[in-house]
Amino acid sequence: MVTATVEIPTHQDVLSFVGAPRTMLIGGKWLDAASGKTFPTYNPATGEVLAHVAEGNSIDVDKAVTAARKAFESGPWHTLTASERGRLIWKLADLLESHLEEFAQLESLDNGKPIGVARAADVPLAVDHFRYMAGWATKIEGNTIPLSVPYTPGVRYHAYTLREPVGVVGQIIPWNFPLLMAAWKLGPALAAGCTIVLKPAEQTPLSALRLGELICEAGFPDGVVNIVPGYGETAGAALAAHPDVDKVAFTGSTEVGKLILRAAAGNLKKVSLELGGKSPNIVCRDADVEASIPGVSSAIFFNQGQCCCAGSRLFVEKGIFDKVVAGVVEDAKKIKVGPGMDLATQMGPLVSDEQQRRVLGYLESGFSEGAKAVVGGRKLGNKGYFVEPTVLVDTTQKMKIMQEEIFGPVVCAVPFTDLDEVLQAANDSIYGLAAAVWTRDVGKAHRIAAELRAGSVWINCYNIFDAALPFGGYKQSGWGREMGHNALELYTEVKAVTVRL
Ligand code: NAI
Ligand code: MG
Repeated sequence: MVTATVEIPTHQDVLSFVGAPRTMLIGGKWLDAASGKTFPTYNPATGEVLAHVAEGNSIDVDKAVTAARKAFESGPWHTLTASERGRLIWKLADLLESHLEEFAQLESLDNGKPIGVARAADVPLAVDHFRYMAGWATKIEGNTIPLSVPYTPGVRYHAYTLREPVGVVGQIIPWNFPLLMAAWKLGPALAAGCTIVLKPAEQTPLSALRLGELICEAGFPDGVVNIVPGYGETAGAALAAHPDVDKVAFTGSTEVGKLILRAAAGNLKKVSLELGGKSPNIVCRDADVEASIPGVSSAIFFNQGQCCCAGSRLFVEKGIFDKVVAGVVEDAKKIKVGPGMDLATQMGPLVSDEQQRRVLGYLESGFSEGAKAVVGGRKLGNKGYFVEPTVLVDTTQKMKIMQEEIFGPVVCAVPFTDLDEVLQAANDSIYGLAAAVWTRDVGKAHRIAAELRAGSVWINCYNIFDAALPFGGYKQSGWGREMGHNALELYTEVKAVTVRL
């Protein structure tokens, strides 16, 4: 059952924001789409239209790239000091923080996530990310390098490197953490001095557009950040293929990641990708089992399971398998599923009817291959895109549900007998985004951490994110690392300068 609701009253600023058709930000101006078209964004708790948004296509993307190029090559952004750039990013963080409730509500309405989660995680993490990256603006340094050129004996050189902004950047982001993904992308690009064309996901364009208003209010020069909402196949594809974009950064499905790569080949633009995952979560017999159970539950159920790093494959050592599974099942039964704007809600709807159908399709495929649901396994209610928190057993490594990303509140639980076996199974995936291990044996924990082929490994915890910690994938989970100082590498070029003395 979807919980009966007492929703919080919608913030006045949110009502007025969704009440008017939203336009796109190009060269500091808010414009309609060149085609005059708009597209609807839905409230996933009800399936009703939430707002209408200008639908960008290749013409709008081209205008935005031209504005970004102009802002990169001339005008105030080009000559701002690093300190001034950092201060603008910090100011944006302050503005965002002062509108926390408004953004939390927009995010909850557009994406479906519980308002409590948006208040405690999405918005504060985005604020923190901008602050962290603001500090980096003044710390992007090169090196001095001693030369010993063998074919010019006796001649001395002074050589150094400069780290320069990569140029005009296209950024394509998904719908699972709409504001936070915008922050992950914009923060380091701005710190490095790039200019940007951002395309938010068609399911959740609102928070990025409202952020665009704050970007203008903070005083970023015109054209530094351009925001073109629209569909992936049109606006997104045009941005990835644009010959005057120097770099494209993408977060989303592995399938589309490969399309981005192909589109980027035309002008060999730089590419960074943050893609899917099928992350193993390993609970050993010597773990603090009581502590591992809520950790395992939140690893999969957080954000309705719509996390690229969701702990979707649960490996539990024989002997404690039944206990851990029973604990996760108990947690699943207790989760209050309902509209995100209800304060009591712990799990909201999935983002769209498409996502609900995709997740239900995976469940069907699992059942047809012999998997069983200990809890959940069905859609919930007849309005909105809800799916029951689900724990599956009797799964085998070859099943589609064990190999492909489900991106919903569905975990596959599998028993294991020894370490080599579980490491082999954990690494048997095309993905390598995240992984976790629960054990009290410190040696074993580090051995497992070393052998897991994944960009993030959590020991006795899960989903711990910090602006300072790099995040990204091995294998088909992506290229490059976002967050931390590693993110700056995605947005800078290195120039070697040599002076004959
Ligand atoms: P998607 O990869 O199609 O969409 C992500 C972004 O890419 C959106 O902004 C979309 O408009 C854009 N896009 C789509 N096609 C494009 C193209 N041809 N060229 C350029 N941009 C394009 O993801 P979708 O369809 O929303 O979800 C499908 C699956 O992808 C999910 O079930 C999940 O498995 C995975 N996914 C992974 C995410 C992650 O955080 N790594 C986030 C969202 C989805
Ligand atoms: Mg898609």
